[in-house]
Amino acid sequence: MNQSYPLRIVILMLTPIIILLLGCNNDQVETTTTNPTVQSEYQEIHRPQFHFTPKANWMNDPNGMYYYEGKYHLFYQYFPDSTVWGPMHWGHAESTDLVNWDHLPIALYPDSIGCIFSGGAVVDVNNTSKLGTTENPPIVATFTHHDFKGEKAKSNDFQKQSIAYSLDGGSEWIKYKNNPVIPNSEKIKDFRDPKVVWHESTQKWILVLAAYDKVKLYSSPNLTDWEFVSDFGIEGDTRLWECPDLFPMKVEGTDEYKWVLIVSIQKDAPNEGTATSYFIGDFDGKEFKSEIESQEWLDWGTDNYAFVTWNNVPKEDGRILGIGWMSNWQYAQIVPTTSWRSAMTLPRELKLVKSEESYSLHSLPVSEFQTLRGKTTAFDAMNITDEKVLEGTFSASQSELDLTVDLKKTTASSFGIKLQNGLGENLLVKFDKNESKMYVDRTNSRKEKFSDEFFQNVHSAPVDFGEEKMNIRLIIDAASIEIFINEGELSFTSIFFPTKDFDTISLFAEGGVWSIDDSKVHSLNSIWKEKN
Ligand code: FRU
Repeated sequence: MNQSYPLRIVILMLTPIIILLLGCNNDQVETTTTNPTVQSEYQEIHRPQFHFTPKANWMNDPNGMYYYEGKYHLFYQYFPDSTVWGPMHWGHAESTDLVNWDHLPIALYPDSIGCIFSGGAVVDVNNTSKLGTTENPPIVATFTHHDFKGEKAKSNDFQKQSIAYSLDGGSEWIKYKNNPVIPNSEKIKDFRDPKVVWHESTQKWILVLAAYDKVKLYSSPNLTDWEFVSDFGIEGDTRLWECPDLFPMKVEGTDEYKWVLIVSIQKDAPNEGTATSYFIGDFDGKEFKSEIESQEWLDWGTDNYAFVTWNNVPKEDGRILGIGWMSNWQYAQIVPTTSWRSAMTLPRELKLVKSEESYSLHSLPVSEFQTLRGKTTAFDAMNITDEKVLEGTFSASQSELDLTVDLKKTTASSFGIKLQNGLGENLLVKFDKNESKMYVDRTNSRKEKFSDEFFQNVHSAPVDFGEEKMNIRLIIDAASIEIFINEGELSFTSIFFPTKDFDTISLFAEGGVWSIDDSKVHSLNSIWKEKN
C-alpha cells in the first residue's frame, strides 16, 4: 500500500551502520553536524549559490515555517549523520529577508515516541494553548512522530501527531508532555504531516494531515485537544498524498476570499515522480469543498515537492509566501552532490487569480530576491533565426534571464534557450507553438548517468500562445532552473548536474523567426560567499 517507504528503507540499509544503531527511539540522540570531509565554503561543484542548502548532510521537506519578530523561520527534514535519508530531525535556519539565511542548531531531535517527520508551526498569538502567555506567545510546532520499531513490527499505528513549543521565538523547543495529541486510533499506515491554520469565523485552529490517499481535517480551540471534522479526497484516487497545507487567500484585485488546499503527490505527477498540486474552494470550519474541476499543479517541473506556506506573515504585508523542496523522491538520494543533498526552491509568493473560467494559483520568486541582482546586460530587440550566444557581464550558471517574446511577429515553430558547457552537456528549454507546449530537456545534461528516471524523459507543460506577448523569466543557479511564464501563470522547476558548470547561454529558433522585444540578463550574487 505504501509506495514510498519500502524503497527508502532499502536505500537506508545501504547507509552507514551508525544509522541503524541510532534508530529513532533514543531520547535526545546526541548527533553532530561536524564532518571532516565537509567543505564549508559553499563552493563545491553543484552547490547552489542563492538557494537554501544545509551546510552538510541530508535535507528534504521544508517544515514549521513562521514569521516572528522580524525573522522568517525555516525548519526542514534533516538527517545530520548522512547524505541520504535517515531518522529525521528538524534542521533550522532563519532570515530577515527570505534571501540570506543563517544556520541555527537542530530544533527537534528524535525521542522515545519516534523521529520527527514533517509538519508546520503557528504563532499562538492569543496563547490559546496556555503554553506561554499573551505577552510572550508560544510558537507551537505540529509534527508527525514516526516510530521505526512500530513500523518494523507492522503495527500500522507507527505515525502519530505531536506538538512542541518554543517560548523564546524558536531557539529552544520543548516537547509537549501529553504527546501524541492525535494518536493513530484507526491504524492508518500513512498518517502524517500536520499543518495548522487559524479559522477566524469559528475561532478554532484547523489541522490538516495526509492520510494515504486523502487529507483529514481536525479542529481545536487550543492546539492540544483535537476533534476530527472531515475527510477530503478524490474518488478512486490511489496515489499517496503528503504534506498538505490549507489557508484562506484573497483573489487578486477583488475582496473575495477563497480557501486553497495544497497537497503533494508522491507518484504519477505530470512529469513523473513527485510534485505539488492544489485545489481551490470553500471551507466552513468543517468541510473543504473544491470549486475547480480538477486538481491543478502548482509547479509543472519535476523538482518542487512538499511546498508549504509561512504562518503569521504580518497583515500589512499580506502576501502568501511558501517554499518547496527542490528534488524528487525518484532520485533525490543519488544525485551527485558531495557533502550535502538537496536544496530548497526560491521562496515564492503565491497569487490567486480568477479568470472567466476558473481560479488558478500563480507563483513567483519573492520580490526580495531582486536584491541579489548584480550587473545587468540589456539586449535590443532581436530576431533569432538559428542560434545566438548571449554575451555580457553574467555567468551562465548564476543568472536571471528576462525575455519578452513578440508572439505576433514570431514565425518560428519552436524556439528556446540552451545552457551548455564545453563537454557537450546541455539543458534545453523549448517552446513549441504548434503543440502549445514548453519542453525541458535535461536528458543530455550529464554524460555519466546516475539514475534512469532522472535522464530518460523530456518533460513538458502546456503553454498558451494566444496572447500578443509572452514573458519568460529563467532563474539559473549552479544546479537548477526555475522557469516563470507570464508572471508566474506557469512555473516549472528542474534540477541538473553537469560535469562542469554550464558556461554558455544561447537562444535558438527553428522553422522561422523568433522575435524578442526587450530582454535583460542579470548576474546574481551569491548569498553564501562572505558567510563561511
Ligand atoms: C515527504 C515526506 C513526508 C514525511 C517526510 C519524511 O517528502 O515523505 O510525508 O513526513 O517526507 O522525511
